[in-house]
Amino acid sequence: MSFREDGHAALDWAADYLERLPELPVLARVQPGELSAKLPLSAPEQGEPFANVLRDIDELIVPALTNWQHPRFFAYFAVTASEPGILAELLATTMQQVAINWRASPAATELELRTVDWVRRLLGLPDGWHGHIEDTASTGTLAALIAARQVTGRNALVFSEQANSSVEKAGRMLGMELRKVPADDELRMRVDLADLDGAAAVVPTVGTTSFASIDPVRELAERAHAAGAWVHVDAAYAGSSWILEEERWSQDGVALADSLVVNPHKWLLVPMDCSLLWTSRPEEFREAFSLVPEYLRTPEDAYALSEYGPALGRRFRALKLWAVLRCYGAEGLRAIHREHLRLARLFADWVEADPEWELVAPLRFSLVCFRRRGSDEENEVILERANRSGEMFLSHTRLDGRYVLRLAIGNARTTEADVRLAWEVLNR
Ligand SMILES: Cc1ncc(COP(=O)(O)O)c(C=O)c1O
Repeated sequence: MSFREDGHAALDWAADYLERLPELPVLARVQPGELSAKLPLSAPEQGEPFANVLRDIDELIVPALTNWQHPRFFAYFAVTASEPGILAELLATTMQQVAINWRASPAATELELRTVDWVRRLLGLPDGWHGHIEDTASTGTLAALIAARQVTGRNALVFSEQANSSVEKAGRMLGMELRKVPADDELRMRVDLADLDGAAAVVPTVGTTSFASIDPVRELAERAHAAGAWVHVDAAYAGSSWILEEERWSQDGVALADSLVVNPHKWLLVPMDCSLLWTSRPEEFREAFSLVPEYLRTPEDAYALSEYGPALGRRFRALKLWAVLRCYGAEGLRAIHREHLRLARLFADWVEADPEWELVAPLRFSLVCFRRRGSDEENEVILERANRSGEMFLSHTRLDGRYVLRLAIGNARTTEADVRLAWEVLNR
């Protein structure tokens, strides 16, 4: 086995894959169980050349890929694993840092603190906030709620019916009392119906999953703090848009938050997984998570990021964040965001101008929620046929029981031609 030769072959494979993406179907064209049926039941007794793995990636794995890197991936929230991020993942894995404390990886510890702080500055978040990287927003929200319960000594969780499922799931896992609040006509949490009495935490969202709606963060935060509750803001998707100063209107009130989650693995070109969790109350956060056994004590009185979250062993995720920020620069990232916002506006304009289609929610960020005027069944058929064409992948949601199509723009390779083609396919 030659690491260098196999490595060249793997990198060639990666470059070829990115180049031929437009020819691949966006949505995998396999049936459930189809791949499993082709995989041996047991691992091989004898080792094989890496070339066999690459061969089977082509033959078995690629057909079962839903191609998230495809320029016409418009489902859920579209993402980009950019080239600098991909390469940095390779290098981070090679270095294999297990950052349980500072001594175990000064590089991973200090680079994480600095790069997360770079992002804080780029997004215009308050000075003094402490940030670190978690794998996902689900974990970040779970951690924030753990801190909230510890600090407040309370157990009720207040969130909108439009909040991401990870919020309710975290509350359930913690055995919290769940207070789900209805949303208004613009799909924002109804402050007047939010029962904050004795609440441990309230979780407003900026950019909800179904419609990218924006909860009234300032009002909720002011009321929550008056009631002694912790405010955790979920801006997993939309928070990245704050790199554009002109988009910071949606940040109103976020500076009041006790914690905030933003996912660079959604809309900041960093490969999965990289979710940023900031807190304005680092000391209390640390109290909730710090547990240093004898075998982890070190002579240095140095900083350990594992004292700020659930995981002890921590990956060197900062390397890919650093690489992306350096190789694109703030201006490069801003240009991509501006283009995504422009493309979403363009698509929404086509929908609005066509009497056979309608927007079902105000356009927010890069997510267009729309449907064909007609039955739910008709819209379901359109979605299934468009997705089965292989030319694009959209997902759906429901509003007041009605079936809604979602077109989410978030891939750096998506061009106007891709969005135009999606519109053509849908009309066809
Ligand atoms: C608003 C919002 N919050 C949280 C999440 C969960 O993110 P993760 O997959 O990083 O846990 C999502 C996922 O799409 C989301 O849209």
